[in-house]
Order: sequence, then C-alpha cells, then structure tokens
Amino acid sequence: MVDPARKEHSPELFNAIALRYDRVNAVVSFGLNGSWKRRVGGHLPSAKGLRCLDLATGTGDVALDLLRYPRVSGVVGIDPAEGMLAVARRKAERRGLLSRAAFVSADAQRLPFSDGSFDVVTVAFGLRNMPHPVRALSEAWRVLRPSGRLMVLEFSRPPFPVFRQVHYFYVAHLLPGLGFLMTGDLPAYRYLHRTIMAFPEAGRLGRMIAQTGFSILAREDLLWGTAVLYAGEKKNL
Ligand SMILES: C[S@@+](CC[C@H](N)C(=O)[O-])C[C@H]1O[C@@H](n2cnc3c(N)ncnc32)[C@H](O)[C@@H]1O
Repeated sequence: MVDPARKEHSPELFNAIALRYDRVNAVVSFGLNGSWKRRVGGHLPSAKGLRCLDLATGTGDVALDLLRYPRVSGVVGIDPAEGMLAVARRKAERRGLLSRAAFVSADAQRLPFSDGSFDVVTVAFGLRNMPHPVRALSEAWRVLRPSGRLMVLEFSRPPFPVFRQVHYFYVAHLLPGLGFLMTGDLPAYRYLHRTIMAFPEAGRLGRMIAQTGFSILAREDLLWGTAVLYAGEKKNL
C-alpha cells in the first residue's frame, strides 16, 4: 500500500506499481492496451537507420516494440520512475535487445538531448501524467530532426452518448476496483480515472500537437474514441 498523500506527479506513484503494471494493464484493458501500443510502429517513416526516442516509456513496451522494425537502429526510452525503467531494462535483456535500447531517467518536459538528435519521438499514455504536456510536445519538436516524426497515443473519451456513459462507469468505478484488487493500491487507479477525465479529448489534443509545430499526418480513433493515436511531422520553421 502506498501513502495516499504522495504527490500526483511524482515518480513514486508509478514506482509503487511498476512490478505489477504490465499485468494489471493487460487485465483492466482486456489486452487492448498492448495492441494499441503495437499500432504506434505502423506510423514509422520508411527511411532506414531510424533513431527513436520514447517519452514516458514506463516499462518500455513501445520502445521495445519499435525494435521489431529493421529500419529502427536504436531506441532511447526516458521516464522519471526508476522502478518502471528497471522493468523495461529487464525486458530488453530477456529479449536480447539491450545493445539497441537504452532506458534513461529524465523528464520529458526538459529533455537532456541536443536539438535534432532523433528521427522519431513517441509517447504512449504519458502526456496525461505530466503537469505541462505542451512543454513535452515542444521538447519533442526540439529534439526531432527537420521533418521528424511524432506519434502520440493517449486515452480520450468516446463521443457517442451511450458508450460515453458505459466508458465513464468503467473508468470511474470498475477500473479502480480491479486495480485495487490486483495491486492493493486504490489511489493509483483513482489517479488514472482523474487523469483520463481531465486530459483534453482527442480533437483538442490534435490541436495541441498542431499548435506545437507538427503537421498531422494521421489520426486513429481506437475503440470508438476510448483512445486516439496521432502521427505528426515536424514542420520546419
Ligand atoms: C501510464 S504510464 C505509460 C507508460 C508506457 N508509455 C506505456 O504505455 O505503458 C505513464 C508514465 O509516464 C511517466 N511520466 C510521468 N511524468 C513524466 C514526465 N514528466 N516525463 C516523462 N515521463 C513521465 C510515468 O513515470 C509513467 O511511467
């Protein structure tokens, strides 16, 4: 059990659930979460030797999945939660991918990389957890090379009235209950509910990405708008 008074944006929240994060995610999303994350790589550019950066990498699912594509030469995953990164490193080691994957403790809102150092930046279910998501998008823009590619996967809220109610009931009541049963940590799953409800819905997120300096190349609405995946290209100033 974790101290309910812990700070919402501190890495402590994710460190506390890191070892069970993947299993709980798979159960509470009926496996959908994993399949949505695997769609991110479908928006990679066609060039070879891609250097990728995965923000809020957590346990590294998106970062490691990108390495399935032979045109990806390497991936760096960043996250402030050391417990999550430790799980990511163990997964990379088990899959023999450590030579092409690095997991580094860092804040997406202040990236420790120089301008134009990546071809691709991804972020899955991470922007929502940051106090200043626009700052993270600006940092993604800065570290991308000209015309570099950004993919953002994030929860949204379905626009259709009945499904919206069902979704609300699931996220507000069933999900925290299931999360609590599996981890003993109710605050973490109440936090998940709050962040999903508070974060901009798909359309507004798209405008945020565009306003930060990206042309939107594709938008995929997943499970009737429960989540959205954007692919964008860095506009050159
Ligand atoms: C819901 S998890 C998503 C992890 C992973 N991308 C996935 O899809 O499974 C959110 C992650 O965002 C990370 N996070 C929170 N604030 C962050 C920040 N300022 N910079 C980078 N990552 C952050 C958390 O530590 C956590 O690992």
